[in-house]
Amino acid sequence: MSKDSMPTTMKTPVPSLQEAIENLEIALPAEGDGLEQDEESIVVRVEGAWMKIRLHDYNEVFPIQGLYEKWVYKVLQCGSPAKIRELLGEMLKRNDTDPANLTVLDLGAGNGVVAEELAKIGIREFVGVDLYQEAADAAERDRPGLYGEFVVGDLLDLPVSEAGKLEGRTFDCLACVAALGFGDIPPVVFASAYNRVRDGGWAAFTIKSDFLDPNDDSGFSTMIRGMIAEKVVDPLARERYTHRVSPTGSRLEYTAIIGRKMSDIPDSLIPSQG
Ligand SMILES: C[S@@+](CC[C@H](N)C(=O)[O-])C[C@H]1O[C@@H](n2cnc3c(N)ncnc32)[C@H](O)[C@@H]1O
Repeated sequence: MSKDSMPTTMKTPVPSLQEAIENLEIALPAEGDGLEQDEESIVVRVEGAWMKIRLHDYNEVFPIQGLYEKWVYKVLQCGSPAKIRELLGEMLKRNDTDPANLTVLDLGAGNGVVAEELAKIGIREFVGVDLYQEAADAAERDRPGLYGEFVVGDLLDLPVSEAGKLEGRTFDCLACVAALGFGDIPPVVFASAYNRVRDGGWAAFTIKSDFLDPNDDSGFSTMIRGMIAEKVVDPLARERYTHRVSPTGSRLEYTAIIGRKMSDIPDSLIPSQG
């Protein structure tokens, strides 16, 4: 069909993700210095106008195709999904577990970068969970068909339609990458997702190393140390690595943990929310 004969109602085709990443014009503001991770922002040109967006305003980031990938993965060199893929792949192999048999609950799934990475080691079934509809829409736009299901909302307070998507499902693995703390996922939500995994299943997650420090007051340190001490999880692999760089080039250190789930996290180990 020639361009002139196209019906006027036909939508402009969505560019491929790679094209979008290449074409996007971005600039990091100089004020990157000394900002907390959740305060970082960027300016991006959208339809000819420059706009400033905060990294943690994910509902504004994901609708701009390619922005998250260009900013977090290209400029800030985030290596977390690849680290989890590498470590989980190794542990599954060592334990003779076929990745093709796993259903993964991807908590804080965003636009699907982690599931895409885990698909490279042969995992086929993913259920995403994210607070924002924009994440679900972006995942389907950029990685169509990757998620068998995508649940939008707070796991502790899901609308009936979203809760229904989880009914009757069992999970073999929880993945949670770059999404714990900093106003994102609190310990109680992590625990709720963990407890949906069957005993004997897997947990693969990354967390800022400081949150595991005994003096940390985010609640994660006490809960995760308790999980290990009370054999709620068998931590098979634990590695400190560079999650990404900050806008000024300093390294942000995270810890990746791959564990076997032994039992549910009891209420006594879950810090109260707030
Ligand atoms: C830094 S992004 C990480 C996305 C993806 N895991 C990755 O590594 O590319 C954090 C994600 O967690 C989501 N998130 C924050 N709080 C959440 C919550 N309470 N429940 C589910 N998702 C949440 C955000 O919407 C965002 O998509």
